[in-house]
Amino acid sequence: MRILIINGPNINMLGIREPDIYGKNTYADLCGMIEAHAAERGIEVKLFQSNHEGSIVDEIQAAYGKFDGIVINPAAYTHTSIAILDALKSVGIPAVEVHISDVTAREDFRQISYAGMACEKSFVGLGFDGYIKGIEYLINK
Ligand code: DQA
Repeated sequence: MRILIINGPNINMLGIREPDIYGKNTYADLCGMIEAHAAERGIEVKLFQSNHEGSIVDEIQAAYGKFDGIVINPAAYTHTSIAILDALKSVGIPAVEVHISDVTAREDFRQISYAGMACEKSFVGLGFDGYIKGIEYLINK
């Protein structure tokens, strides 16, 4: 099984950005945790992070026929990007959405998730564990 993990803008700033909201662990820590879990479960993962909406669309398109599932945290693009929503719908790969923070308890502008409309499940407010929960959902599906 091959799972693509996509992270959007500023997720590479974990550990530095707003630690009271996102915690003190870094993006490298997140990648290490996901890779260790994938090794334990005997699956392949590709980790992709970009600050650019079009690059995320390109990565989703390129996943067609190559990946069995997508775990995506589109970060701020969650709340703005119909292009990412359409890309997920275009490839039809089972996808789950992850947010480190509990977006449901935050600002009004974070209450809409376009990408989430193409996802089977959302894991929010669970910190880094949300990615593991997302991977497990796709494995067990
Ligand atoms: C986030 C929540 C988004 O609203 C925010 O723009 C992010 C991170 C999260 O993981 O909690 O960059 O997706």
